Amino acid sequence: MSDADRREAETVLNPAAYAWFRALPRDLQWHGLRVMRDLQQAGVDQPEVLASALLHDAGKAEGASGPLVRAFSVLAVQLAPDWCARRKGLDYRKAQGIDRVLAIAYQHPQIAAERARQCGCDPVTIDLIRNHQDTDRGKMDPLLHLFQQVDDQN
Ligand SMILES: [Fe+2]
Ligand SMILES: [Fe+2]
Repeated sequence: MSDADRREAETVLNPAAYAWFRALPRDLQWHGLRVMRDLQQAGVDQPEVLASALLHDAGKAEGASGPLVRAFSVLAVQLAPDWCARRKGLDYRKAQGIDRVLAIAYQHPQIAAERARQCGCDPVTIDLIRNHQDTDRGKMDPLLHLFQQVDDQN
């Protein structure tokens, strides 16, 4: 991550949120930056929306992170949806191993939204983070829909 990349993030985040972003695993920082840039390409310039792009998946940092774990979660949910869905409501702080990985996969939007609130982020930022995996809601909300499209492509 270059100084220029860091400055890009710094301009749309408050100091607490920026410190949080900088502490994320590298792959989550890059994912956030790519989503932000693609939203900018699509004409979005509100800092509150761009901030949500940087932080939307930050909840994943609560668990073992990285491309392999992420691929596992996606695959597991496809192959064994019911078995996985039983992990939705687990307290991820207490869960272990696979249960914890899946609980965090499901709950990462809520985890990050709560942290964004604690960092004093704008309500627009918090809502987009909280709803970014909710595709039903995206069908009724053009901005959320665009966010989800860009997220999927990254
Ligand atoms: Fe996500
Ligand atoms: Fe994402």
